[in-house]
Amino acid sequence: MPSSPPLLPPGFRFGMATSAYQIEGAAGLDGKGPSIWDTFTARPGTVRHGEDARTAIDHYHRYEEDVTHIAEAGAHDYRFSLSWPRVMPEGGAVNPRGLDFYDRLVDRLLEAGVRPVPTLYHWDLPQALEDAGGWMNRATAHALARYATAVAERLGDRVHDWITMNEMSVHTLYGYALTDHAPARGLGLAALPAAHHQLLAHGLAVQALRAHGAARTGVANQHFPVSPAGGDPADTEAAALFSDLTNWTFSDPVLRGDYPSELIRSATGTAEPRLAEDLELISAPLDFYGVNYYEPTVIEAPREGKDYRGVMEVDIPEGLPFSPVPVAGAERTDFGWAIVPSALTGILRELRDRYPALPPVVVTENGASFHDAAPDARGRVADPRRIAYLDGHLRAVADAVAAGADVRGYYVWSAFDNFEWAAGYDERFGLVHVDRATLRRTRKDSWYWYRDVIAAQPPAPDRAAAPDPPQTTGGPGAPS
Ligand code: GAL
Repeated sequence: MPSSPPLLPPGFRFGMATSAYQIEGAAGLDGKGPSIWDTFTARPGTVRHGEDARTAIDHYHRYEEDVTHIAEAGAHDYRFSLSWPRVMPEGGAVNPRGLDFYDRLVDRLLEAGVRPVPTLYHWDLPQALEDAGGWMNRATAHALARYATAVAERLGDRVHDWITMNEMSVHTLYGYALTDHAPARGLGLAALPAAHHQLLAHGLAVQALRAHGAARTGVANQHFPVSPAGGDPADTEAAALFSDLTNWTFSDPVLRGDYPSELIRSATGTAEPRLAEDLELISAPLDFYGVNYYEPTVIEAPREGKDYRGVMEVDIPEGLPFSPVPVAGAERTDFGWAIVPSALTGILRELRDRYPALPPVVVTENGASFHDAAPDARGRVADPRRIAYLDGHLRAVADAVAAGADVRGYYVWSAFDNFEWAAGYDERFGLVHVDRATLRRTRKDSWYWYRDVIAAQPPAPDRAAAPDPPQTTGGPGAPS
């Protein structure tokens, strides 16, 4: 790894990301209602080791300490999500005590000099709304708009940056098409209405947030380059269809007002002229576009009798016209994900080329799971592979900027080790280690590395007059 830190342009915003369900815990407390993830995790066999997130990392009670870990790294932004069932236990009537928590969190962030960037929806749908059809029901989009209004009314005086939805693609594919995530519907391609209704919810939320004074509004979409395994035209076709379904179905409507193909357009379950009206709303210009990136994918047309299981985090059912193959020659994280920083440069350039109207981009998630050891006797957690991963990906962002992509920020997934959905707690993505038994937080080497990277950046013209970031002292794990 080069010794000089990766450098980004002046004013570039460094941040950390989390989501409510993965960190808060406090299930059922202060009026919180159940979400689809509570239902999912309660079913045997859904989550590794049968783990759940009733306590998660207890951020609900430890948020003050947690904000300190974020602020003392010098992070400019903190991306977190609001729990819809905490704010609206049944998806409708507001629970003021739920909003009180986010009030306190936002105040604490602002006091610490960190900009709050909340996401409205990071997959934890109130169970009552799922019972009424979930994202397969168009009414859920309107319910989300009412939720957006309720939180903006309460927080909009202090929160100016909003993300509407997180990874509509993964939520649709894993939760509605397959059964690997909540609500585990297993609808296959018939899940596409769930995609359309989330996109509609995004469009309605943008309107609602702006009506309450939002200064900057965006969405966080997962993106990864998809390449064909070989030169066979059948592989090229398979890769293009896979990319349509996983990438472009969720970005084309937002960034160019249409679905990537007639096939997908007609599978959304919404007829004209309503579909055209929806797309108009969904494509309202954004202030920024969030890209979550982890790894690229290689696809081929299925070969008869070949076993494709275990290549991706989830298996694609047989009978579909595309199959994933391992990314050749790539090192892997402990979660088994291919480490290919250049693919992040690639997707940032591809987005710039595909969308003439692309707003400034923020990398709203990027990071890696390694099964870090517990803190040693001196309280140190050495995680050199995470540092190498993050260093490589920040340089990949710098390469994209040098090639003309307008990227304004980068958020590490994640600030803390947390509940990694169906994989439970084995997969540690945090800059801060969390002990499973005691929930004690320990800054990993990567935390100190990130702090030093942020401190090494050129001064931001617009931050010149701002107060100095909080002073910190090196800890036991501080790299020299
Ligand atoms: C994203 C998701 C996050 C986190 C991350 C690491 O897909 O938005 O919640 O789990 O992946 O797997």
